[in-house]
Amino acid sequence: MDAAERQRKRMTRACKRSGEHGEHVPVLRSLSTGNVRAHNDTAAGAMEEGERGGEGEGDNPLEQKVSAPRYSLVREVGRGSYGVVYEAVARSSGTVVAVKKLRCDAPENVELALAEFWALTSLEKRHENVVQLEECVLQRNGMAQKMSHGNKRSRQYLRLVETSLKGERVLSSPEEPCYLWFVMEFCEGGDLNRFVLSRQPDPHTNASFMQQLSSAVAFLHQNNIVHRDLKPDNILISERSGAPVLKVADFGLSKVCAGLASGPGRCADAEDKNKPGVNVNKFWLSSACGSDFYMAPEVWEGHYTAKADIFALGIIIWAMIERITFIDGESKREQLGTYVRQGTDIVPVGEALLENPKMVLSIPQRRRSHMSSDLRRLLRDMLAVNPQDRPDAQELHGRINRVICAG
Ligand SMILES: Nc1ncnc2c1ncn2[C@@H]1O[C@H](COP(=O)(O)OP(=O)(O)O)[C@@H](O)[C@H]1O
Ligand SMILES: [Mg+2]
Repeated sequence: MDAAERQRKRMTRACKRSGEHGEHVPVLRSLSTGNVRAHNDTAAGAMEEGERGGEGEGDNPLEQKVSAPRYSLVREVGRGSYGVVYEAVARSSGTVVAVKKLRCDAPENVELALAEFWALTSLEKRHENVVQLEECVLQRNGMAQKMSHGNKRSRQYLRLVETSLKGERVLSSPEEPCYLWFVMEFCEGGDLNRFVLSRQPDPHTNASFMQQLSSAVAFLHQNNIVHRDLKPDNILISERSGAPVLKVADFGLSKVCAGLASGPGRCADAEDKNKPGVNVNKFWLSSACGSDFYMAPEVWEGHYTAKADIFALGIIIWAMIERITFIDGESKREQLGTYVRQGTDIVPVGEALLENPKMVLSIPQRRRSHMSSDLRRLLRDMLAVNPQDRPDAQELHGRINRVICAG
């Protein structure tokens, strides 16, 4: 791929993630922060109770129609490329949750919403460092229905899949938009950028974050999920238990590699004994997606595996330890991320490596650095040009533990 082509890809990806079909949610703008009661009037029916309705499409017990509002929106906490995230309160228990509202009209939005839905609902076990999905609700025509994974009897679910596959709107009219609501655990500590950059450097926290991140990615890969958009923005923090706990979030670009074991992407010699038939490190993916500064060289070329997540993690950890930042062109916010300087330009490491695979990364970047030689070696391995030279997630987790113990 030449430079012009890469630039085009960047722009396409930016479009996909920048909310061209963005949310126009008058509802919350008319709510003042903390105005829980106003939700009833302004966001009526936004999230409703899971009682069985029993009419029409509600015949399927998994498509429960719902009646009374169940969550009260408190305030907007994030606005991403294709959805809005709110802090909300579960009316019955008073539990604070996060709800991510995704408009499912344009097929590209549905595609991203389904990716998130498939990934989070495919996980049978919880992991402390992966954001927990409590439930997913489809809202349409003033009705809300609980969604469950792979429910082929659900007409709503099938319509969403059809919208995504056909690339045309089949679910809702522009007058009656349809939304998917993801109810998740609330991470009150913000994202990794905010957390790290608003504090003094702390080697203990860095070490703990490295362990937590590698543990989360090992868990996801073991469960056949490639995240594909690991970056500090998508790593959230919960401080409920005192010490900060990282939560990998935003599965909108993720890929569940399971269930395609007989398809063309299947690896020939699966090695993962827990999940027979799929080894995410040999499962080839082709859509070039992610966020520039965290993308591995092979992602720029559109032919990659789960090892792309290891590269992204390498960039994040390196930047976190050395506090290397850049200003994101889109959000204009300071982001943790390493890069290569080319004249006055800063270039993503993956892109620079693609242009010059022999380039030697200067790790550490800062002259006065306390980075151990083991950690330098590990970062070099994580950022290897050849994905096969990178450790897999399980190995990485072991090596990080050893680096930390030795330090
Ligand atoms: N569970 C959560 N708890 C608290 N804030 C959240 C939660 N999920 C998302 N957010 C906030 O919303 C932002 C956008 O959410 P994200 O899932 O990354 O969607 P997008 O695909 O639009 O980037 C996050 O960067 C974060 O600030
Ligand atoms: Mg995000």
